[in-house]
Amino acid sequence: PLAYAFHGEHQAGIVTPAQDRLHFAAFDVTSDSRESLIELLEAWTVAAVAMTAGELVGGGAPQPYDAPPQDTGEAQDLDPAGLTITFGFGPTLFEKDGVDRFGLRDRQPEELRRLPHFPADNLDEVRSDGDLCIQACANDPQVAVHAIRNLSRIGFGTVSMRWAQLGFGRTSSTSTTQATPRNLFGFKDGTANLHAEEPEELSDHVWVQPGDDPAADWLAGGSYLVARRISMRIETWDRTSLREQESLIGRDRVEGAPLSGGTEFTEPDFALQGRSGPIMPMDSHVRLAHPAQNNNTKLLRRGYNFTDGADALGRLDAGLFFIAFVREPLTRYVPMQTVLSRDDALMEYLEHTGSGLWAVPPGIAQGHYVGQALF
Ligand code: HEM
Repeated sequence: PLAYAFHGEHQAGIVTPAQDRLHFAAFDVTSDSRESLIELLEAWTVAAVAMTAGELVGGGAPQPYDAPPQDTGEAQDLDPAGLTITFGFGPTLFEKDGVDRFGLRDRQPEELRRLPHFPADNLDEVRSDGDLCIQACANDPQVAVHAIRNLSRIGFGTVSMRWAQLGFGRTSSTSTTQATPRNLFGFKDGTANLHAEEPEELSDHVWVQPGDDPAADWLAGGSYLVARRISMRIETWDRTSLREQESLIGRDRVEGAPLSGGTEFTEPDFALQGRSGPIMPMDSHVRLAHPAQNNNTKLLRRGYNFTDGADALGRLDAGLFFIAFVREPLTRYVPMQTVLSRDDALMEYLEHTGSGLWAVPPGIAQGHYVGQALF
């Protein structure tokens, strides 16, 4: 059975080869007690160690008959299915409405601020932000849901779930051992992503380095998680010509090769001219998102497709739950998103409906709890 160690230098679920399923949840802390918060993080860590190893919450000890079972039970006969559980701390954990509930204000990272309003954003407050987040990924949806359910059960009385998102069909490869999957527009997604096998690139673009932020030394070896719930206008897309679809992305649909030629992993040639201008259109997604246009910014993308039923007009409520891990969200990701939200031709088919940013503490040593260096 596939199982990933919970302990390590970095939290699992970042460079771990992207699993097929996601259950993501954001929580608000309902208690003002620093002790309760720490106890929760301790209890979450113990439960995450057990569940990622395929064991029951509570260690399978004999259960009193007159109390609810410690583990909710639905994953009992399933293998761990590559479960990873990744924890994040939102800006509001450090200060909310001017109040420093947990004595953490001085340790808030400079880069951890609520994301700004980007052009064309249509955010739903009940799908955005949160004091804490948990990303559970697994190859079995029941295993991922079981993880979030049990962690939220443990948090009862200390946190309440603010919002959650289910995802399927990973939309990125995060390891060179994986084939590139496709998103709901039918295009390969993750071709030019950062990969686990590129440690120097990861140090430059994903992992927070010692000295990055003296007030937030507790975050060294961690990262930041950006989440964007992006609705896709599937029905409009499906009436768009293949020629138009490919020029919006800047790649061909079957192979994923840049329109400037070659195969999937050929670098795009942005200088190549056709009869009516550059072969890679100026407003194509790949051109605008490419590091060459963004001061060499690179992200580790790790998103999932979603469908949440249909809307009142009979259209699929579907899209991409975009997740990216970055070392410098405000100085690197925000400018890139600003350009894409403003200029990307693909935006005609997209609507950003949810948003959040969390600091992801470094990996956890045996016997420690997640984020321990912060307290
Ligand atoms: C590349 C689709 C949103 C950043 C791509 C590619 C596709 C794609 C098909 C080409 C294959 C690849 O290299 O992975 C989409 C769709 C989106 C979306 C359908 C929304 C529903 C975003 C957002 C960002 C982003 C919000 C970041 C702000 C990138 C980057 C690349 C990329 C950095 C690689 C560019 C390169 O270096 O060539 N995307 N994307 N994408 N996308 Fe997106």
